[in-house]
Amino acid sequence: MASWKIFEGTRRPHDRIRSELPPPPRWREFKGGPVVDPFPADLDWDSSQAAAYRPTTEAVEQVNAALYLRRPLLVTGPPGTGKSTLAAAVAYELGLGPPLHWPITSRVTLRDGLYEYDPLTRLYDERRRQVDADDIGRYLRLGPLGTALLPYDRPRVLLIDEIDKSDLDLPNDLLTIFEKGEFEIPELSRRENPAANVLTADSGTDRVLVEDGFVRCRSFPFVVMTSNGEREFPPAFLRRCISLELNQPADEAELTAIIREHLGALSAERADLVSTLVGEFFARQNAGDLATDQLLNALYLCHHAARVEAVNVVELAEKVMPYISGQPGSDGR
Ligand SMILES: Nc1ncnc2c1ncn2[C@@H]1O[C@H](COP(=O)(O)OP(=O)(O)O)[C@@H](O)[C@H]1O
Ligand SMILES: [Mg+2]
Repeated sequence: MASWKIFEGTRRPHDRIRSELPPPPRWREFKGGPVVDPFPADLDWDSSQAAAYRPTTEAVEQVNAALYLRRPLLVTGPPGTGKSTLAAAVAYELGLGPPLHWPITSRVTLRDGLYEYDPLTRLYDERRRQVDADDIGRYLRLGPLGTALLPYDRPRVLLIDEIDKSDLDLPNDLLTIFEKGEFEIPELSRRENPAANVLTADSGTDRVLVEDGFVRCRSFPFVVMTSNGEREFPPAFLRRCISLELNQPADEAELTAIIREHLGALSAERADLVSTLVGEFFARQNAGDLATDQLLNALYLCHHAARVEAVNVVELAEKVMPYISGQPGSDGR
């Protein structure tokens, strides 16, 4: 049956974004150019987590809404519910290359995400006359956001991780950039010749041409912003995002399916162990938050320990699944 969804969450890569994603709505058209090459083909990334990801039906829908509307996706939820991995899962299935990663702390500013300029090294090189110090692009490196906004033909995936840790101004600063889809590099635009080949967030030495001191996007990037809910966002910000809330897997069947994706043969061999620990996980979860990856670690550890000696798997599992919130004492210890 036909589906409007380009991202299906089936963990099988395909190229349908090229043929099936409709052009953007008029109010989200961007005309940057000339087109730059896609991410460096030799760029390796570890897609194993992405290839094991099982999104919820709602996650699939909201991802597609963000793709169609060229809007950022704001993903909230407790730790370990798969917020960060969702970005990689989309990049993997849609063949969009390695996701760009921008981890946020209270010290991070918009400028850090856009680009950095290193005038000191330039001055030093000028003195030594070893390289062409007039080649200013050598001293300019685009950050993860700046790189995502290059005029690529297909969207890059950008993960703005834990945006709720940011300084108060960052969400609004981002809003402006997301509306315009472009930014200026004054160090370039003020020059007589504003064109330069600049470095990107992807790798060491590959460079990309910025023609007139502005980076202008062409395909709006697929932006995932994650939040553990430590702070509320301004209404103007929320209005321009597609929102998604993630929670722990709803039932034992879904959790078991996630385990199967991650542990493959191990989970089939040790179905008894999996069902014991999944049961334990849900029982303990009533007393406080636990994260899916804690269970994955517990399973791995118990499986290997139990191969060597008769261990009490429930006791061992409890030691590596401490509560991440809630009242740690409330389950009787
Ligand atoms: N729906 C899911 N399907 C498969 N693996 C998942 C899922 N949700 C979480 N995980 C796994 O749990 C771990 C934590 O996920 P992560 O994306 O880092 O969570 P968050 O960013 O919400 O803290 C990762 O190893 C991830 O692969
Ligand atoms: Mg995360």
